[in-house]
Amino acid sequence: MKDFNFDLPVDRYHTASLKWERYKDKDIIPLWVADMDFRSPPAVIQALGRRLEHGVFGYGSAPKTLIKVVCEMLVRRYRWQVEPEHLVWLPGLVSGLNVACRSVGKECDEVMTLVPIYPPFLTAPRNSKRELVTVPLKAGKERWEIDFTLLEHSITGKTRLLLFCNPQNPVGRVFSRKELDVLVALCCKHNIIICSDEIHCDLLLDSGKEHIPTATVSKEAAARTITLMAPSKSFNIPGLGCSFAVISNSSLRNKFLQSMAGIVPEVNILGFTGAEAAYSDGWDWLADLLEYLRGNSRLVEKEIGSMKGLSMHHVEATYLAWIDARTIDEISPGRFLENFGLGLSEGSEFGLPGFVRLNFGCRRSLLQEALKRIKKAVAVKNVSA
Ligand SMILES: Cc1ncc(COP(=O)(O)O)c(C=O)c1O
Repeated sequence: MKDFNFDLPVDRYHTASLKWERYKDKDIIPLWVADMDFRSPPAVIQALGRRLEHGVFGYGSAPKTLIKVVCEMLVRRYRWQVEPEHLVWLPGLVSGLNVACRSVGKECDEVMTLVPIYPPFLTAPRNSKRELVTVPLKAGKERWEIDFTLLEHSITGKTRLLLFCNPQNPVGRVFSRKELDVLVALCCKHNIIICSDEIHCDLLLDSGKEHIPTATVSKEAAARTITLMAPSKSFNIPGLGCSFAVISNSSLRNKFLQSMAGIVPEVNILGFTGAEAAYSDGWDWLADLLEYLRGNSRLVEKEIGSMKGLSMHHVEATYLAWIDARTIDEISPGRFLENFGLGLSEGSEFGLPGFVRLNFGCRRSLLQEALKRIKKAVAVKNVSA
């Protein structure tokens, strides 16, 4: 353990980084879009180097060795037996969400999701001419929870698909078997297909928690679930664009493939290389990363908890903190905080204004500076209130 140095500063300017270019000429710490500032596992960097050295970059197809590594990983981590032909390779999970909307039901049908939620969940249904139905998560005493009564009340005769996120971005929940059982039972009862985005499944911060893929809950769950997964978040390679869907129901899979045809490009060859190296040899790095993220998470929870007017629930998974900042501004606290040198994600983009999302996947010293700035902003707000 502790073989990797996550405190090492890495200059990300001039690397075409979405996260860092946004504020490049300003003294604003970018803690918004969900990638981390850390170098990827050495095994990934070395494998990519070898692939680059080869020098020929023609069209790719998923290597058999990668397919084997993914299937073995699913058995080892989740006791989930997946046939190679159940995998559908995708250049991104957002593509997967949009394809799922296109492949289930027809125009004007309803697609449900639980809010707050990662913004593409809110746009994918309309991109496919489906109606979006949002159901608010409940802020419980200890954690954010699914209000199953409200969820069931929101189902109509036109509801065909649930876009589900577990672990949940932005509230950081890892849903329990009990919760998944109820959710799946509800979807079976109302004949709703589930698209389960599990991109954050390796980033569990609570050691007592386990990730349970929705599709593994029961045979019925497997038959109605499109699971989306990727090494992107876990090994910090989202820019390589390699992800996959697991769809065991052949009719659902065929519809999904038909909806992709001619629109969704192949995964790029470096993505395949990065994914295979990560899933083969990235696990020690990931274990150290999780220790580091736990430290960051503890720091954020302690500091935010001590600031008058701000609050957050415990983060069970992901490197994202979902902060209630309504006392700063009911609509756009992110804009206020930007004036104090912080680039956070605005809650309104996730369907819940008055909150901000803070990405703590960065070196500790930068996070400490960001928290100092938040403290200052809160103090100014409290004085002027
Ligand atoms: C829940 C969730 N799904 C999908 C994505 C993006 O996936 P991709 O970059 O593969 O499209 C993110 C990125 O933050 C995410 O948090």
